[in-house]
Amino acid sequence: MKIALTGTPGVGKSEVAKRLEEMGYNVLRLEEIVDRFVIGYDDERESKIVDEEAMDEYIRGIKEKDILIIEGHLSHLLSVDGVIILRCHPKELIKRLRTKKWNEKKIKENVEAEALDIILERALEKHRKIWEIETTGKNVDEVAEEVRKIIEKRPPPNYGNIDYSEWLMENA
Ligand SMILES: Nc1ncnc2c1ncn2[C@@H]1O[C@H](COP(=O)(O)OP(=O)(O)OP(=O)(O)O)[C@@H](O)[C@H]1O
Ligand SMILES: [Mg+2]
Repeated sequence: MKIALTGTPGVGKSEVAKRLEEMGYNVLRLEEIVDRFVIGYDDERESKIVDEEAMDEYIRGIKEKDILIIEGHLSHLLSVDGVIILRCHPKELIKRLRTKKWNEKKIKENVEAEALDIILERALEKHRKIWEIETTGKNVDEVAEEVRKIIEKRPPPNYGNIDYSEWLMENA
């Protein structure tokens, strides 16, 4: 069973995945394999252009009887059995991205994408088994525990209830 762990850059996917790995889960970090599927570079957005179809073919080829957590901000585009989206309020996301030393232009772009629910929107093009987790005000352990509960208990999908549009109207 494959579960995507996704979210806007800076929401904490990698930190949470590290914790899940310590709990004993298998984790595949897309960051570690993405270079095999890069077909160009978008100068304006300062990001790699990935052959999503080829990457998905690779993921489909993995036969996993156990649980495999696929971590990365493109994982919701893949053939997975469920999608967990980490969310973070723009105000806090700005701080998390600044600690990652991102430049202000990229921070603004990503924070606006978070406020506009871009990842959820794209995930919905392919999936319905989606769970959003609000990470604002929580620590990595608390978020990892919420992920664990979803994976183990499979509650009904839970998405569309997080709304940062107020921030967007005040700041964008
Ligand atoms: N509740 C939380 N969950 C996860 N990370 C948190 C939390 N609170 C604060 N952080 C901090 O936010 C930062 C998140 O960075 P991380 O590299 O995990 O993000 P990411 O989603 O993997 O980003 P990218 O897409 O750029 O790889 C870390 O510095 C982490 O310590
Ligand atoms: Mg990461």
